[in-house]
Amino acid sequence: MKAPSSMTPSDRFISIRSVSKRFGAFTAIEDISMDIGQGEFFSLLGASGCGKTTLLRMLAGFEAPSKGEIFIDDQPMSDVPPHHRPVNMVFQSYAIFPHLNVRDNIAYGLRKQKLASTRRAEMVEEMLDLIKLPGYGNRKANELSGGQRQRIALARALILRPKVLLLDEPLGALDKQLREQMQLELRALQRQVGITFVFVTHDQEEALTLSDRIAVMSGGKVLQVDTPAGLYETPRTRAVASFIGTMNFFRGTVRRNGSVMAAIEAEGLGTIPMATAQLTKPDGAPVQIALRPEKFSLSPKRPEGGLAVEGRLRTAAYMGERSQYYLSIPGKAEPVAVSAPNSHRLMGGHDLPEGQALWLSWSPESIVMLDID
Ligand SMILES: Nc1ncnc2c1ncn2[C@@H]1O[C@H](COP(=O)(O)OP(=O)(O)OP(=O)(O)O)[C@@H](O)[C@H]1O
Ligand SMILES: [Mg+2]
Repeated sequence: MKAPSSMTPSDRFISIRSVSKRFGAFTAIEDISMDIGQGEFFSLLGASGCGKTTLLRMLAGFEAPSKGEIFIDDQPMSDVPPHHRPVNMVFQSYAIFPHLNVRDNIAYGLRKQKLASTRRAEMVEEMLDLIKLPGYGNRKANELSGGQRQRIALARALILRPKVLLLDEPLGALDKQLREQMQLELRALQRQVGITFVFVTHDQEEALTLSDRIAVMSGGKVLQVDTPAGLYETPRTRAVASFIGTMNFFRGTVRRNGSVMAAIEAEGLGTIPMATAQLTKPDGAPVQIALRPEKFSLSPKRPEGGLAVEGRLRTAAYMGERSQYYLSIPGKAEPVAVSAPNSHRLMGGHDLPEGQALWLSWSPESIVMLDID
């Protein structure tokens, strides 16, 4: 994310300032501040009950914050009712009218606007093209598949040209294959129309695939806002690191010798020299470091130079293009997860016997320093 000083008004098209939401004694959203840029595909990612829908409903105006303010396009929203906000919402269950045909479903929101019927028909046809369902105008809603219904729900929201589209798990009801196809279509559609999307999901893969940036939420708070690569490569906390993909965690202690040399003494990994810029904590300070499974290399012999420890294979799982290995290393209770491509059939890969000795090596650059949480 850019530094606040280099941010332009379009970087904070939606600005959430110290927003909290209480339901009675229960705090559903706790002091969230973040900005969403114009045209961004922004996702709220978190486990069930973390407050995603509540935050979306506050953006839509269906709920008022108990504290704080939401700005959209530089306008404070506290006194703006839902129907006057430049936003539209698509719900998880495709809320389309079963008794209306596709055309009337899509045109539904236009009924209060004074438009020539030819113009209205034209707009509906444009939408049907956009969602790749041309010629479906006369179909009854109950004669459509789940994916088609979801596309109609999208078209119905998009035809009103909102500045912001709020999507609450819009693909949640679809099966895996259709869901993946719809993800690609949704992304392409968003690029095409250039509308700001705020997208709610509890599926990390979906969030990584679709988003420009993601806010990882837990217990009503935002843990980290970053690009998909930023969240994966440089999670700040253990909570974020374990929410996205698989991660190995190691406790460690800072070892310093004057101001030039710095190292981390890490459980199971030994002494790892670190760039002093990366390691600012004083001698003896506890740290928590993390390494993704694919940042380790495996070899039957000790690699020359570099950092390595010998481990013993506990289990291996063959996963097609790669295998996932679990190794025990001295000094660490939990096994270390290592992921290696099967492209060159490393050394018999998943066929290796349990207990096989293997060397794990890694480079200091692949180490992620976590805040202790
Ligand atoms: N109107 C309400 N009154 C009381 N508590 C509420 C209300 N709405 C939501 N909550 C509570 O606030 C918390 C957050 O709910 P929310 O619906 O925002 O979660 P979510 O992240 O969307 O979850 P899911 O992924 O299951 O949809 C939950 O514990 C929920 O029970
Ligand atoms: Mg929800």
